[in-house]
Amino acid sequence: MDRPRILIVDDDDAVRNQMKWALAEQYEVFLAEDRPTALEILKRERPAAVTLDLGLPPSSANAEQGFLAQAEMLKFDPLIKIIVITGQEEKENALEAIGQGAYDFFCKPVDIEELRIVLGRALHVYRLEREHHELLKKIHFESFEGMVGSSPEMQAVFAAIRKVSTTEAPVLITGESGTGKELAARAIHRLGARKDGPFVAINCGAIPENLLESELFGHEKGSFTGAHIQRQGRIEAAQRGTLFLDEIGELSPALQVKLLRFIQEHQIERVGGRQPIMVDARVMAATNVDLRKAMAEGRFREDLYYRLGVVVLAMPPLRERDGDIPLLAKALLQRYAAEEKKTITFTRKALNALEEYGWPGNVRELENRIKRAVIMAEGGKVMPEDLELATRFSDYEGKGLAKAREAVERELIERALAKNKGNLTRAAAELDISRPTLYELIEKLGIERR
Ligand SMILES: Nc1ncnc2c1ncn2[C@@H]1O[C@H](COP(=O)(O)OP(=O)(O)OP(=O)(O)O)[C@@H](O)[C@H]1O
Ligand SMILES: [Mg+2]
Repeated sequence: MDRPRILIVDDDDAVRNQMKWALAEQYEVFLAEDRPTALEILKRERPAAVTLDLGLPPSSANAEQGFLAQAEMLKFDPLIKIIVITGQEEKENALEAIGQGAYDFFCKPVDIEELRIVLGRALHVYRLEREHHELLKKIHFESFEGMVGSSPEMQAVFAAIRKVSTTEAPVLITGESGTGKELAARAIHRLGARKDGPFVAINCGAIPENLLESELFGHEKGSFTGAHIQRQGRIEAAQRGTLFLDEIGELSPALQVKLLRFIQEHQIERVGGRQPIMVDARVMAATNVDLRKAMAEGRFREDLYYRLGVVVLAMPPLRERDGDIPLLAKALLQRYAAEEKKTITFTRKALNALEEYGWPGNVRELENRIKRAVIMAEGGKVMPEDLELATRFSDYEGKGLAKAREAVERELIERALAKNKGNLTRAAAELDISRPTLYELIEKLGIERR
């Protein structure tokens, strides 16, 4: 590994050389005798830490050049660790430098051993801060309209979103549950010409069929029992904006016809109404069922399918997004940990478990598991257990049947105990074994009971 780089700024040749000599084994040392040289080297060599003599030419008698140098260095690299060095009588200057962002200070003559320790710690802090900074930058860079993803699959989705957002074409978004279909629809709306108009989402699968028609199209007063007042439907509410029809596959044949008419003619009639109402809304729809199959089976109208799916945006399942799982996991952990005012990181094992899991519930499932882990995790570390990730076969491959069986038994028992807070009766019931059998197994496997 490269040695860390440090820069020594001092106008005294002897001091510079002495320090270089003392530190050169551990560090790659650069030297500067005045402010302009120091800055030039800083920009070229990017050291992690600087020792800065405050009294620099042309005004070596006061700290003016030193303060100026410090401000310029911190402006160039806000994370840089500056260790200020002053004369014995100028401790106030040193404290002022700290107030302005220096990491630490020394009074001359400098004890090299002490300096070594302080430098070591400064570089450690620098590394941590730098890593954190890079991670944040990466996450920012690798997200698009709130969607995190650096995989080629997601880059393609982002490109498609950008492209369709400039058009008015209906978009059909397909994908498994939790893949971000609604997020994608909102992104298209936000990036498009209708961004100042409403985004109206309606879940066709969540509303009973007999209510869905009036929900979508609205109704006139007295049009059916219970229709005491006139009501505007969701389609009208999307005037000059976007209408997002979620779970479109759930739409009944009758409503499919009415929706098709609206898409073709841009007008609707309220239930019980006589007047056509013009509605200018862009239509997007989403489905997690295979509409082609529904079409083949006669459950979904072909003409509607082709109207809605002028553009089809397929959201890839999370397990197929190469490299996105750790990226998303870290971004989500950061978000939820911040909400809980905690500092938490994943253990290597937890990250491996996340990557190997199949994610049937996709990003939504990942969110839920991480939310939970943030609450469960102890000692600032997320363990695989905190994520409740199922054991994988590959863990047991090559172990032999007896060992594998033991490992599975151990894991299931530990989980049952943890879940039931050590209550044997409940854990046994959950494992569908008798209490004495559970007790025997605990003894045999040497499982710790908390
Ligand atoms: N790429 C992503 N980056 C960050 N968060 C995401 C991403 N994709 C989805 N999410 C989050 O995951 C959750 C599920 O997303 P969304 O509701 O858009 O999925 P969906 O496909 O509509 O799911 P469903 O089929 O269950 O309705 C949301 O909280 C969303 O913010
Ligand atoms: Mg959804």
